[in-house]
Amino acid sequence: MSKPKVFVTRKIPDKGFELVKDFCDVDLWTGDLPPSRDELLQHARGVEGVLCLLTDLFDGDMMDAIGPQLKVISNFAVGCDNIDVLAATARGISVGNTPDVLTDVTADFAFALMMSAGRRIPEADCYARSGAWKTWQPMALLGLEMKGATLGLLGFGRVGKAMARRAAGFDMRVIYYDPLETKSPSDARATRVEFETLLEESDFLSLHTPLTDETRHVIAADALSKMKPNAVLVNTSRGPVVDLEALYRALEEKRIFAAGLDVTEPEPLPLNHPLFALDNIIVTPHIASSSKAARDKMAWIAAKNLIAGLKGERLPNCFNPRL
Ligand code: GLV
Repeated sequence: MSKPKVFVTRKIPDKGFELVKDFCDVDLWTGDLPPSRDELLQHARGVEGVLCLLTDLFDGDMMDAIGPQLKVISNFAVGCDNIDVLAATARGISVGNTPDVLTDVTADFAFALMMSAGRRIPEADCYARSGAWKTWQPMALLGLEMKGATLGLLGFGRVGKAMARRAAGFDMRVIYYDPLETKSPSDARATRVEFETLLEESDFLSLHTPLTDETRHVIAADALSKMKPNAVLVNTSRGPVVDLEALYRALEEKRIFAAGLDVTEPEPLPLNHPLFALDNIIVTPHIASSSKAARDKMAWIAAKNLIAGLKGERLPNCFNPRL
């Protein structure tokens, strides 16, 4: 019996890829950069399944152009804002994602960014390397303390809750606002507040919300103007949640203390972007989930989702609300 044809848009860790190869007739995109829209379509036309990355965009037109035999789009990511999930559901196409296995590693990274920005670690490293370090100084590179500080979480899903667990170990107070929360939370470690209160009271504000129409640029000039002058903003969710022009102004005018961004709009952030000229920002290249263990598990789940979809079964991690 012939194997189902699939397009895999980038090399993924071996364990998952081997599983895909055992079950499918694979066309693998071997480029380091994502396929263009035309290239994506050229390779995906006629396939029954696609295993893709968050850099590959799938709208309804793309799904139609691939053809009615398309059964499953398996995303190697938790966030699925690169896929029009409503359009997929309307066409009976399953969409898979890879939650849980990257929750802790992502929270670790967000916490690391928060502490690095608060304690100015990259700036201190440059200081030491540049020869500016002449002696121990009582007031050099003064930073912020975690103990007793308020951690604000925008989004209280898996990663938000993992942040609250970490914050307990640092004796922090934790508050959160979750635009998607439908029922009352049962988490003693964090107090639900209104969005305004979150902005006004957070010493560290960490973003853990999916990108939706409601959350796009939710952190813009107005929100930033309500934050404390000593606040640190951290984003490990999706770049467009923060308006970078407004953030640049707030950081440049020292209206907030610092920021740590693992995600930006656009990605990559161009080298001539004004944010790169500031000392009070850390930018990392969308690597919060980047541990070997997490990426191996993501590959395995993405492969399992793909294969289940090809068999017409419910995906182990199905992102469509109604499939
Ligand atoms: C990474 O950003 C993911 O959504 O998995």
